[in-house]
Amino acid sequence: MNYAVPVSNLEVLLDAETIAHRVRELAREISADYRDRPLRLVGILKGAWVFLGDLIRHLDLQITVDFLSIASYGNHSRSSGVVRVTKDLDESIEGLDVLVVEDILDTGHTFEYLRGVLEAHKPRSLKVVTLLDKPSRRVRPVRADYVGFAIPDVFVVGYGLDYAQQYRNLPDVRVLRPTP
Ligand code: PRP
Repeated sequence: MNYAVPVSNLEVLLDAETIAHRVRELAREISADYRDRPLRLVGILKGAWVFLGDLIRHLDLQITVDFLSIASYGNHSRSSGVVRVTKDLDESIEGLDVLVVEDILDTGHTFEYLRGVLEAHKPRSLKVVTLLDKPSRRVRPVRADYVGFAIPDVFVVGYGLDYAQQYRNLPDVRVLRPTP
């Protein structure tokens, strides 16, 4: 398989060590906030699974994990915010403390939609942790409860994030710049 751009041409924005350090910090913060309460983590596929995999191994909590998969309608859905669930939760979240795990919060359309879907299931509480946040891109009124890194408006790949399904396996987060 040929990459759209060779990995060596992609500038590193966050190296693996920096990410690992921040993930441990987030896990400590989350563990302290939930203390003895069981926590259901809901990973949003596909981008969040690498982050979720690292995060849960540092949580000092009784946790369970479920996944939701979503897709966008058409080519302009990201800006229109029209998304749909393609893989629903396996288990009910009613009455549970739920932490949504996202890789990136960008315009906010996706999480605004997800929040509506999940709140309809009546969790006891609903929070979100995102590895990356692009606050300058936000068009919907959503914010994450826990943020790994606020980043500028650049297209990023690696550590679960893709371009055309490529680069998810990179251990660091790199910038994919548009070709001139
Ligand atoms: C990414 C990310 C969020 C969404 C955020 O998913 O995982 O779900 O975009 O963007 P928004 O705030 O502008 O709505 P993507 O569509 O890239 O799918 P993937 O996770 O399968 O790579």
